[in-house]
Amino acid sequence: MKTRRQLQDVIESMPPLPEVAVQVLALVQDPDFAIEDIVSIVRTDPTLTARLLKLCNSSIYSLASTLTDIRDAVGRLGTRNVVRVVVASCSTHYFADSASRPRALDPHTIWRHALACGVASEVLSERLDVSDPGTAFTSGVLHDIGKVALSQQLGEDLVPTSPLPGEGLVAYERRVFGADHASVAGLVLDRWPVPAEVRRAIVDHHEAHKLLADPPLTAIVHVADLMVLRAGVGAPADGLELEYLPEALRLLGLDAARTDGFAPRFLTELAKIEEMLAV
Ligand SMILES: [Fe+2]
Ligand SMILES: [Fe+2]
Repeated sequence: MKTRRQLQDVIESMPPLPEVAVQVLALVQDPDFAIEDIVSIVRTDPTLTARLLKLCNSSIYSLASTLTDIRDAVGRLGTRNVVRVVVASCSTHYFADSASRPRALDPHTIWRHALACGVASEVLSERLDVSDPGTAFTSGVLHDIGKVALSQQLGEDLVPTSPLPGEGLVAYERRVFGADHASVAGLVLDRWPVPAEVRRAIVDHHEAHKLLADPPLTAIVHVADLMVLRAGVGAPADGLELEYLPEALRLLGLDAARTDGFAPRFLTELAKIEEMLAV
């Protein structure tokens, strides 16, 4: 097992969340934010501006004429899609950079799971009218940021190990790696200016005893994570227990069957955003 100091070195070497994502995340906390606010943030980033214009002018939208003004593009895409593209574009490199992944973690799988959890969190937030969908999306996308740090620290030492009978993810990680991904995420997020609600949702999303005291976004991220894994998006170790925490379901007024029933909706939304990000 490698040392805590090495984990801290990995965390300190991780680039900070880009400023444009930090600003968008802060903005969507305000339920009354205006389209002009998001336009003025996006305008500060030429790469994102170009990406959004390209997306708007792609075959997905089939516009009669080419848009050249980012204000028009944001209006056409809608703030929901703009938040999705900004957050996903600013986060993908943490998960999808194959150069920094040990062979045991497939970059495409870990990124698709992160994106799917973002979409599932957003869908649940909207359906249950809990938290802000953009904040939920961001929390879901970043929920496994601790896995990234943990896997970089362990490098090629990360070998698949079978869970014990009935063992859950957190217990498995603590036994095999000496730390779990959610607590490691806390060390990463200590260095990033994300809203407190987002930090708690990520750090506590497997902590049954904290779910009831936290804002409901924590339960949303927990349920989304498990829903996505149960729908087959992600690669948990074979035999790992994938049960929802009863506290999370109770808090959100759900049961396991109804929750799994959201899967077709989030898979449709996932396909949409994957198409948007591929432009
Ligand atoms: Fe998790
Ligand atoms: Fe996850």
